Formats: sequence, C-alpha cells, structure tokens
Amino acid sequence: MNQIEERIAYYFGRKYCHLTGSGTTAIYLILKVLNKKDSYVLYPAITCMTPVNAALYADMKPVFCDVNLKDYTMDLSSLKKMIETYDIDVIVPTHLYGHSCDMDGIIKMAKEKDIFVLEDAAQAVGGKYKGRKLGSLGDASVISFGHTKILECGGGGAVLTDDEGFYEKVKHLGENIPKQPVNVKELFDDYRMIYYDIMKLIQKDSDFWPLMLSLQMTFKKGFVYAKDAQIESILGSRLDEIDVMVEERNKRAALYDKYLNKEYLTLPDIRDGSVCWRYSFLYKGNRDELLKAVRAKNIDISSWYPTLYQMYGNQPKDQFPNANMLEKEIVNLWVDPRYTEEKIISDIQMINQILRELE
Ligand SMILES: Cc1ncc(COP(=O)(O)O)c(C=O)c1O
Repeated sequence: MNQIEERIAYYFGRKYCHLTGSGTTAIYLILKVLNKKDSYVLYPAITCMTPVNAALYADMKPVFCDVNLKDYTMDLSSLKKMIETYDIDVIVPTHLYGHSCDMDGIIKMAKEKDIFVLEDAAQAVGGKYKGRKLGSLGDASVISFGHTKILECGGGGAVLTDDEGFYEKVKHLGENIPKQPVNVKELFDDYRMIYYDIMKLIQKDSDFWPLMLSLQMTFKKGFVYAKDAQIESILGSRLDEIDVMVEERNKRAALYDKYLNKEYLTLPDIRDGSVCWRYSFLYKGNRDELLKAVRAKNIDISSWYPTLYQMYGNQPKDQFPNANMLEKEIVNLWVDPRYTEEKIISDIQMINQILRELE
C-alpha cells in the first residue's frame, strides 16, 4: 500500500486498502476477484445504477430485494425471501443516503448461507454502525470520493478488506485495468444529457428501460478505470477532513429537522451513526409539482433513486411494494458544506411556503 492507502485503511479500521478510479471500479474489482461468473449478486431495489452495472461488467447477474420504509435500506424479510429463491453468491448492503443498514441482521443471514458480503459505503464515508466505521463491516467494502460524495475529491474510490490474499488479487487486477479516458469530462457531460433524455422517455413509457441499460453498458470506460495520480494527491491533502464534513452535513440536516414543516412529510427513522448524504424524506402530495416549484426558486432538490429491478431483470413488480412507493415519493435536499446555514434556512422558509401552497 502507498501512504494514502495506509491512511485510509487506518481511518476505516481495516488492514488493507486499494485505491481505484471510482467506487464502481472498486465493486467491479471485488466481483472479478471473487470469480463467480454467471452467479447472482443481490442489491437493494433502490440504489445508484453504477454499482449494479459493476455486476454486469463482471459477468454476474444482479437481482434485487425490496427496501424498508423505515430507513430506506435493504428490507430483511424481502432479503430472506430472495436468498431462498435465488442461489445468491454476493450481497451488497448499501448505506444509501448515508443511512446505515441493519448490518448484524444482513451478515447473520449471509453467513448462514456462506454468502460474501460486499458492503457499499460509497454514500456513507465517515458514518458508523454500533460504534464501528461504515466501510469496515463487509468481507470487503467500498467507498467513494466521487461526485456528490461526503468527501468529494473529483473522483476516486477504494476497496477495503482485512484479507491479505484477497487484497493482493484486487491490487493486481486494479493495476492492470485501463486508465481513465482523457476526455472523460466531455464524455460525462454527454452521458448525463442522454441519461436525462432516456429518463424522460421512461417516465412516459417503461418500454424504454432497455435503452438505459444499453447506455450503462456502453459507458463502462467512463465508470471503471485505474487510480489516478492527480486525484490521489487531492485525496492525500483532504483525507483529514472526513469527520469535519460529516459534522458540517449533520449540522445542516439539523436545520431541516428543526425548521422544515413536517406536516406534509414522512421522515425516515435512521440509526445512530448514520451520515447525511442528502436530507431525504417522503412526500405524499404531488411530488413532481413540488420539485418543479422548488426548482423554480433556484433551490436544489432531487428525487433519487428510481427502482432498478425493472431495468436489470425480470422480477415481478409486486415483490417491491416499498421501493415502488419510495420511487414516487422520495425527495432529497442538499446538505453539503458549500451551502451556508443562512442559505439553508432561507431555502427552508421558501419550501415551507411552497408546501402550504400545494396543500
Ligand atoms: C451507493 C453508491 N454506490 C456506489 C457508487 C459508485 O461510486 P462512483 O461514483 O465513485 O463510481 C455510487 C455513486 O454514485 C453510489 O451512490
């Protein structure tokens, strides 16, 4: 390990760290090293697309379990059903929105069936579960320093593990994959444009999901690449800021807790130690009207994430009642430290007014 990797391993309480070009690459490397071609990888039905793409890039088959409506992470009863239905080799507990999963419950079920636990802490850097760092709980874990993450460094990710043999294999493979394409920024701008155009089509007609899948598969070189010296140097200079970032985000989340009018919203009940990626909740009214009205006031707001079982497989819709609801109702507000506390308070006043008007 180089010095930065040693510092990351130490921070997360792990023996080994291998830096990668992205969090997606970290997942890809773990799955490739496991060498389980054609076997199943289980994800929550609500997550980011790129970690799921990693399974396809590694020639594995993604399947999904439902999420729970308490903290929006993997639902354990659905997880149990999926383990009984599919011969699953890897589970990817994902601390989505920074909310920590029920790791004890997931690990217990996984160990009973000898399933590998790949912990996805990409959105939860700096968070904890029962006093242990998120990123230290899987057989192997991934973190990310990419776009919108807790410590955003313009890219970068890492594989964390305590298994020396596994680490050596990840390192070897990680050093032998292509570098980031030089024109990746322009490629990404075009990717984003096409992504949103396809999403617009999907909202009108779900038959367009295969088009999105084909974009995801075609864009592999924009998601999977070896570590980069420039990003490593940014990381090296910013690594000590993780805890400050978490504190700053939590401070902003506390403002929403205090001032946002909860009459119209359902808030998650999240575990102690979770971090706030974005302040996320469910809105029972006309969510799209809310997004439109808030954006019209130049306030950032998003509705991440769409359910993914429709795109990657053929599991029936009725296996995902909670994910189907969450997809329609989820709202996320910004908490990153670029937003001053004054701005957040004035945004909240505006959002409260919009909520009243939409009633
Ligand atoms: C939950 C989750 N896992 C993994 C990733 C992949 O990280 P990266 O963007 O560094 O490839 C993301 C990216 O947004 C994510 O949100």
